[in-house]
Amino acid sequence: MMISNQLLKVTGVKRSFHTGRTTVDILKGIDMSIHTGQLVMLKGRSGSGKTTLLNLIGGLDVPTEGEIWFQDQYLHQFSDYQRTGLRRQSLGIIFQSFALMPLLSAYENVELSLRMAGIPISTHKHRILECLDLVGLGKRAHHRPSELSGGEQQRVAIAKAIAHRPTLLLADEPTAELDSQMSARVMTIFRDIIDTEQIAICMTTHDSTIWEAADHVYTMADGIFIKA
Ligand SMILES: Nc1ncnc2c1ncn2[C@@H]1O[C@H](COP(=O)(O)OP(=O)(O)OP(=O)(O)O)[C@@H](O)[C@H]1O
Ligand SMILES: [Mg+2]
Repeated sequence: MMISNQLLKVTGVKRSFHTGRTTVDILKGIDMSIHTGQLVMLKGRSGSGKTTLLNLIGGLDVPTEGEIWFQDQYLHQFSDYQRTGLRRQSLGIIFQSFALMPLLSAYENVELSLRMAGIPISTHKHRILECLDLVGLGKRAHHRPSELSGGEQQRVAIAKAIAHRPTLLLADEPTAELDSQMSARVMTIFRDIIDTEQIAICMTTHDSTIWEAADHVYTMADGIFIKA
């Protein structure tokens, strides 16, 4: 069992959006933390603010108020440029829509994140095949997304998101379009990844059948966490 270290700390985070003359407060004061080795889930009704929070943690958006501490740095104070660098080096992000490049094979899709992180080319082949093996797709390396099932595409997206050895993997509804068997498989893969890659995973989900796989579940309602 790995000794768990604090990786991320969110303190008093608020996010408001301006539309025309009105301001809508979406996140109203979020406190959370994630430790290395943990699988953390965010659940809550549609529109409760889960994706908004994930975007802040992933450096895709900035809070209106509050602090986000990640790996000894204050992410909420970063410039756009610094946030892009952090995403490429330290974060793996899986969007619900997979975001695979349609003309590239599974192998080439995974290679993209190694290139973006500036990882030496001589190491690519070994690492790409290692990641595809981890998600059970070693034999599908040269298939394009259109030649793969939804669940297989999702697993390529996972391999792509971890290839550059991020410390935190963020996944927005990673099982939403999968049947229950494939969802369970993805959760097993997540657990394997946590064990072999010394990473933490934070994911959103509506799926009550997988909540028990989490080390911690945060329940969001109207922009704050409530006791479930
Ligand atoms: N850029 C934006 N401008 C204005 N409102 C926004 C913006 N982004 C999100 N919102 C609003 O914030 C609320 C929360 O959205 P969010 O996508 O975080 O919900 P969610 O919990 O992820 O929902 P779902 O489960 O449907 O994915 C919604 O009411 C949405 O309309
Ligand atoms: Mg969402």
